[in-house]
Amino acid sequence: MTAPTAPSVSAPSTAVAAAGTTTASPAPTRTSGAVGTPHTRLEGRLKVTGAARYAGEVPFAELAHGWLVTSTVARGRIRSIEAEPVLAMPGVLTVLHHENAPRLTPGVGMMGPDATLQVLQDDRVPHVGWPVALVVAETLEQAREAAEALVVAYDAEPHDAVFHAGHPGMYTPEPSRYVLPDSDKGDVEAELGASAVVVDEEYTTPQEYHSAMEPHAAVARWENGRLEAIDSNQGSHAVAQDLAKLFSLDAASVRVRSEHVGGAFGSKGTIRPHLLLAVMATTVLDRPVRVVLTRRQMFSLVGSRPATAQRVRLGADSDGRLRALDHEARTFSSTVHEYVEQSTRHSRIMYAADALRTRTKVVRLDVPTPAFMRAPGWAPGSFAVESAMDELAEKAGMDPIALRSRNEPEAGPVSGLPFSSRNLIACFDEGARRFGWTDRDPRPRARRDGRWLLGTGMAAAAHSAGTAPSTASITAGADGAFTVRIAAADIGTGARTALTQIAADALGAPPERVRVKIADSDFGPAFLAGGSMGTASWAWAITEAAAALGEKLALVDQIPAEGITARADTSELVSGRQPRESNAFGAQFAEVSVDVASGEVRVRRMLGIFAVGRVVNPLTARSQLVGGMTMGLSMALHEEGIRDTASGGLANADLAGYHVAANADVPVIEAGWVDDPDTYNPSGIKGLGEIGIVGVAAAIANAVWHATGVRHRDLPIRLDRVLTAGTAIENGGAVTH
Ligand code: MOS
Repeated sequence: MTAPTAPSVSAPSTAVAAAGTTTASPAPTRTSGAVGTPHTRLEGRLKVTGAARYAGEVPFAELAHGWLVTSTVARGRIRSIEAEPVLAMPGVLTVLHHENAPRLTPGVGMMGPDATLQVLQDDRVPHVGWPVALVVAETLEQAREAAEALVVAYDAEPHDAVFHAGHPGMYTPEPSRYVLPDSDKGDVEAELGASAVVVDEEYTTPQEYHSAMEPHAAVARWENGRLEAIDSNQGSHAVAQDLAKLFSLDAASVRVRSEHVGGAFGSKGTIRPHLLLAVMATTVLDRPVRVVLTRRQMFSLVGSRPATAQRVRLGADSDGRLRALDHEARTFSSTVHEYVEQSTRHSRIMYAADALRTRTKVVRLDVPTPAFMRAPGWAPGSFAVESAMDELAEKAGMDPIALRSRNEPEAGPVSGLPFSSRNLIACFDEGARRFGWTDRDPRPRARRDGRWLLGTGMAAAAHSAGTAPSTASITAGADGAFTVRIAAADIGTGARTALTQIAADALGAPPERVRVKIADSDFGPAFLAGGSMGTASWAWAITEAAAALGEKLALVDQIPAEGITARADTSELVSGRQPRESNAFGAQFAEVSVDVASGEVRVRRMLGIFAVGRVVNPLTARSQLVGGMTMGLSMALHEEGIRDTASGGLANADLAGYHVAANADVPVIEAGWVDDPDTYNPSGIKGLGEIGIVGVAAAIANAVWHATGVRHRDLPIRLDRVLTAGTAIENGGAVTH
């Protein structure tokens, strides 16, 4: 037997501990060179061979299956639930509903009290698709058959479920941690009046759905007095915390694991009804219960990006210098909970203007509660503002990139804070070079390829880059290997692989000797895979844990059999920093062709160049950016939830009616990045899960204008809209939508 060797570890990064310093400690100097090197996903083989188990696939003895029954009316009360006949059906174990389900603690929610979580607690029905019962049976088929046979009667009330820009009942939401206050700088009206060029337009985006490949699923069971759940989510620790609160349990008696997650895009960022229902059923039946949402149920129970109607007013001098930027964004939430889509985030960051005004208004409708969806606020907001900037460039006779470059702010336009780094111009330069922008004929409707009109467009992108407190532990084993434990989530992003690379560098060990265990609430608090903050937040905790481990290992000659463990918690480091305007930036380019006969828009190519801080794994980073851009293409041309006025339900609650861009829609998309050194957090990572989608819809809409000479201010740019507008143009008439 060979003597265990004490692994070498990089020097501790203690400089970050000083509260109030402007920047944190530099990135660890001693590395194994793992960060920055392409690595395929560590769990890739498991996934492609089917060996990786998702929440709905983990086998359990004695497993019972829950099938959810949802409301068919948009507003009202449950009059009766006829459970008796269903209980007599084969295999049926129980029917849970508001009269017999376990009670939940009210007032719980990750972002404040959220009544959306209070399922099966009373007879109120706030929207079509609200949970009214859970049928549990021995087999999935028995549960489904019984659920379909369950008769629920309602006292329906008049509903109001379809959003309009001029909806009565619009109000200004109270500012909070999740709602930015409206902002005013300077005199917008005076500056617009003094402007040589003015744009004043309305832009709309429809309701959009996350549509993760893996449906929301959970299996729950009681094991030795502990509630154990395997759940599909973006943050096992936060979900476990809320689960404990909702069921009035001691936090230590709840464990949630989420080892593999098949996509989320925000829809799995908070605890969702499938898990609550599985826990209710396992508590009642005392055996493991699995609940998997159907695709249709996902359209009403896991959130959506709410529709927006945005008015943008821009005023500029003849040389393109912005005098005024006014952005008013209207959106909706449910009657159950206030979620606010913050579309003005983009306008608060992007451009210097003498006068800058942002407004957000919300109306509460009889619809499911919306939620964060990839680049919340930034995605719809950038469509409006970046489209308006293109219109301004056209009116001013300026190149769209030159217009944007002229209006680069010195500091945060609303916050006044210095940027931690801002390398947008570098993205423009590199993007323009690679895309071939400089040869572009700015005139619209100037290029044609047979029946296709051709055009190019661009847009700027930004997304906040943040870090949140996290904890991590690392154990140095007697065999020379390291085990990192952190309640991170890999929702398909490659986070597990990236964290292994980060840990390897922090430990000065080859990645092969580092094992990263994630997605277990028992590992302690960690930020969720959301807000493009996951990797940066987790990297910080891992780096600190590696430093602490290094100090411990320096004191020993030999590692005992149980290993040596060090923990780190970055709470004080994160909160001790001076505030900065910290964002990732990017430039999006698109070339489209528009069929003059059918109105079909095809994207021919796209290029995105980003400033996203330090890139950990070029392979998975590129994949995230291209994935985001693909979702942006889908937003531009395809995705649109259509709510039926009469029923209040969604008319296209499946992937046949709600089209998400498929292979045939997507051309070669290239993504790249520029150097973007930034030490606001010591890892230098900014996060890139979301910025890929930002600005894409505007770049495509701007390209459609360049191709056809017609502006499209309503998403998606459907062929019927193109045809209607195109015909109007041929006739020399006004464009209508
Ligand atoms: Mo993402 S929409 O921040 O989970």
